[in-house]
Amino acid sequence: MDARFQAWLEELRARTSLEEVVSEYVPLKQKGRRYWGCCPFHNEKTPSFSVDGEAQLYYCFGCHKGGTVINFVMEMERLEFMDAVRLLADRAHMEVPARSRRDDGDGLTRDEREAMYEANREAARYFHALLWTGEGAEALNYLYGRGLNDRDIRRFGLGASPRGWDGLYKHLTEKGYAPELLEKAGLIVRRESRAFDMFRGRAMFPIINPRGRVLGFGGRAMGEEQPKYLNTAETPIFNKRRGLYALNMAAKERSAGRLILVEGYMDTVSLRKYGVQGVVATLGTALTEEQARLMKRYAPEVWISYDGDPPGQKAALRALDILDQQGLPAKVIDYPQGMDPDDFIKRNGLPGFDALPKYDSASYRMLRARDGLDLAIQDDLTQYALRCCAILKNVKNPVELENHLRRLVNETGYDREILLRQIGVSAPAQAEAPRRPYRPAEKPADDQALAECALIALLARDLIAPALLAASDFSDPARAALAERLIAGEAVSGWIEGLDDESARQKALEALNYRPLPDTREDAARMAEDCLRTIHKNRAESRADEIYQNIGTASQEQKLAMYRQIMALDNEDRTG
Ligand code: GTP
Ligand code: MN
Repeated sequence: MDARFQAWLEELRARTSLEEVVSEYVPLKQKGRRYWGCCPFHNEKTPSFSVDGEAQLYYCFGCHKGGTVINFVMEMERLEFMDAVRLLADRAHMEVPARSRRDDGDGLTRDEREAMYEANREAARYFHALLWTGEGAEALNYLYGRGLNDRDIRRFGLGASPRGWDGLYKHLTEKGYAPELLEKAGLIVRRESRAFDMFRGRAMFPIINPRGRVLGFGGRAMGEEQPKYLNTAETPIFNKRRGLYALNMAAKERSAGRLILVEGYMDTVSLRKYGVQGVVATLGTALTEEQARLMKRYAPEVWISYDGDPPGQKAALRALDILDQQGLPAKVIDYPQGMDPDDFIKRNGLPGFDALPKYDSASYRMLRARDGLDLAIQDDLTQYALRCCAILKNVKNPVELENHLRRLVNETGYDREILLRQIGVSAPAQAEAPRRPYRPAEKPADDQALAECALIALLARDLIAPALLAASDFSDPARAALAERLIAGEAVSGWIEGLDDESARQKALEALNYRPLPDTREDAARMAEDCLRTIHKNRAESRADEIYQNIGTASQEQKLAMYRQIMALDNEDRTG
């Protein structure tokens, strides 16, 4: 981000009072430097949402959301970064700098971007209008043939691109759009002195964002031409990794309480035609992390609804990995073999769709773990049980684990205790490395996290001298990065605000909000000492563990030296 824009943002934050903005959404009560209220991002009766008036950061102790005023507006109003900035700038009577790299990194001025949106909208209008003329008859019949009626076609703004070479080009240049702009927007291709349309002879699906802007198109071939679907190339306003088809509709359907993720444009249109809400599709690519984060802003849960064939099932497992990783609860709808959502709902209607089983992450993984296995064969049964135990290692919630476990006992006949042992003991590091005999119980890693959080909170409140600490004292990368800035005396809000990684932001805010903190510098110094002792002790332990893991492959002399090192580290760890 360029420095001038960064400085302008700081000015915007300084001129905006977080507690004032938050108060417009939830009542706040002041207690010292903090304001408290009920969290607008999750359901609660007792306030755990806090605004730090001095730091100008909010943090919810319940759901761990937090950030600056810009993050708050993004979350509350479902806006992209720059749109939240614009809203707050209006409020503060500040003018957004005309050109800034932060502006989605696209290097466009505001006017250029607006012109590109307009060109796309005009193109969508042109394609749609063409449908109802002789030139669009083939596409119209194609869409009818796929089960859509005029109302569906209007609702999704579907269209037809002409078979000729330059129908759209002529139309838009006559309207005054510059060929350079149309090329940048991915609507036309220019070769030497000639220009022709990107989309020719296809049924057109406009891709529209929640603010009603047309970003690009998907074009379906009507016969066997390749590619079957042609998507707008990457442009300054169209990023396949970040957008979702029909998010403009899903944004207004938050009451549905979940998004349904499908693979195709037709699946989206078809499910929606039958009354399913919240349906969105990726833009011809596999689900990305960015899209997962985007979905998180619109719904607390996602149902993956991919084709019921092996590629769809594999893609569903990959999508689950991404959603699990982003902490977004997911379910998977398992369609009958060979069906996609479009086929299924056409045949079975909304009641059929509603009746389909929806599997949670672990259940779906277990379902797939069974593919290709015959549980009547002992080897396959063993294989199945092992695969399931590996899956269940990741189930953190004990009650859920118990449910899965009961099912697995039923399916495999293995003893519950045996399965639990398999789930518990064969974490790779422990299974492959010999255990240190004189350290039977593993300590929870939590004391490390707490110590790191406490040190950061002490630093942020100026209760301890930064010279006491080094970023290398922090094992967690997000906390280390935050500590580095605090130690250097830098402001941290801008950094927190710009973090795309939600879990990093939560970690940073959790640390800054660590409580309780002592009142006096003496007590603070004592607390810091305790924390550092914990950190150094854990470090000595994990170094010793590391050496122990390598001892098996070492030579005799090396072994002796290694045992000495371990003993020294153990000593260090006992004395702190
Ligand atoms: P229909 O055959 O029209 O029902 O499409 P579908 O949605 O069943 O298509 P399919 O399952 O083959 O593909 C799902 C999605 O993948 C489509 O909506 C496209 O976004 C994308 N896709 C499919 N084929 C192509 C292709 O040839 N090129 C590109 N770029 N994307 C494709
Ligand atoms: Mn299909």
